[in-house]
Amino acid sequence: MIGTGYVGLVSGTCFADIGNQVICVDKDTNKINKLNLGKSPIYEPGLNELIKKNYQAKRLIFTTDIEKAINQSDIIFICVGTPSKKGSLKVDLSYVMSCVREILRFTKKKKIIITKSTVPVGTGDIIESILKKRKKLFSVISNPEFLREGEAIRDFKFPDRIVIGSNDKKIFTIMKNLYLPLINKGAKFLVTSRRGAELIKYASNAFLATKITFINELANLCEKAGVNIEDISLGMGSDSRIGSRFLRAGPPYGGSCFPKDTKGLISAAEKYKIKLPVVKTVIKSNQNRIHLLIKRINKILGNNLKNKKISILGVTFKPNTDDMRDSSSLKIIPYLCKKGASVNYYDPSGEKKDFSKIKNCFFKKDIKENCKNSNLVILLTEWDEFKSIDFKKIIKNKRIKIFDLRNLYNTEEMKKSKIEYYSIGRPNSN
Ligand code: UDX
Repeated sequence: MIGTGYVGLVSGTCFADIGNQVICVDKDTNKINKLNLGKSPIYEPGLNELIKKNYQAKRLIFTTDIEKAINQSDIIFICVGTPSKKGSLKVDLSYVMSCVREILRFTKKKKIIITKSTVPVGTGDIIESILKKRKKLFSVISNPEFLREGEAIRDFKFPDRIVIGSNDKKIFTIMKNLYLPLINKGAKFLVTSRRGAELIKYASNAFLATKITFINELANLCEKAGVNIEDISLGMGSDSRIGSRFLRAGPPYGGSCFPKDTKGLISAAEKYKIKLPVVKTVIKSNQNRIHLLIKRINKILGNNLKNKKISILGVTFKPNTDDMRDSSSLKIIPYLCKKGASVNYYDPSGEKKDFSKIKNCFFKKDIKENCKNSNLVILLTEWDEFKSIDFKKIIKNKRIKIFDLRNLYNTEEMKKSKIEYYSIGRPNSN
């Protein structure tokens, strides 16, 4: 596994756990040192334990020596980052291509090269052209990951599907053997062309992003029409053609994949002179959503944020991860502070350096300390430990205001407790 980020580390550890000999290689010496001490550099539930178990069983090795890793492996997974290029929709493939050049340089015998990183349709063809001088040594295939942060181990072990894209049919048998323990437990094994597999990944993420954006837009309508968005999600989701998942209204979607992959899909389509207006609108609507939420915060506080004490619960883009990428908190907190509010935040994954330079922004070590005496509590991320907070007990203010961006709490119970409660897409929610 080249790259020990979320994808490489989780996949590598899980491949070891189903009985393979795995070498995880990374240029980052700090990361590898940490891993060799049995510590995961990322926060992912269950990962530390699984790393330790497989490391001790000597099925999992961590190294910075890429030459050795390449030489000792039959199958090489490329798991490095494919971020968006700064200020552009395009995908930065430089990390992938630098791996390919290293593979070319160090390979002595036949290898299967697999892109697990999310790469635009046609990337496998570019990789193949770089390797063409020694093409007999390589099979280049695509095997996209569908791991959700916070649920990554479960998603690896019980996947909805395993997708293998290859133009060489012989490879399908090898890959089926690799994934056999998961297939035997019921995972669907889908084979397609290499370009097909590359596109399935982007199509899946863009579609999920579309589902979320759709329900978020409907939540805006529900707020005005006095309808509960959760009834709409349930009613729509019960249609098996639609499906109930990813229909939870909330803040704009964030994370390491949806924002970058929706953009990446558009830029890949542009290469083929194809426009994807639906996906373009999703990106725009998602970007605009943060402004709607900021407007609501202003309204809740009487359009005057100066000297207001605001407490944020949860700053990561979703629960069970320490990942801050494209989290709404990165936009909301600096805005509130700029407008003169004093902001406390608490997140179970700890303090974030993203806010360390903001003067009136403070990390608090627990929920109580975070929320006491605040004018407004904003719930941004639905961590389990926020589910049963007794706000009456911990906020000493007489007038308690809560803006729940994840619809974690019950409107009726809040009313009974005389808490001024605002949520997303529910009757009387604004
Ligand atoms: C995603 C894909 O789900 C995964 O298959 C892919 O390989 C990597 O990207 P991830 O980004 O880890 O996974 O998280 P996910 O659970 O998909 O959530 C993404 C964003 O959508 C988050 O901001 C989350 O809060 C939001 N979301 C999700 C909603 O707002 N509503 C929902 O109903 C579901």
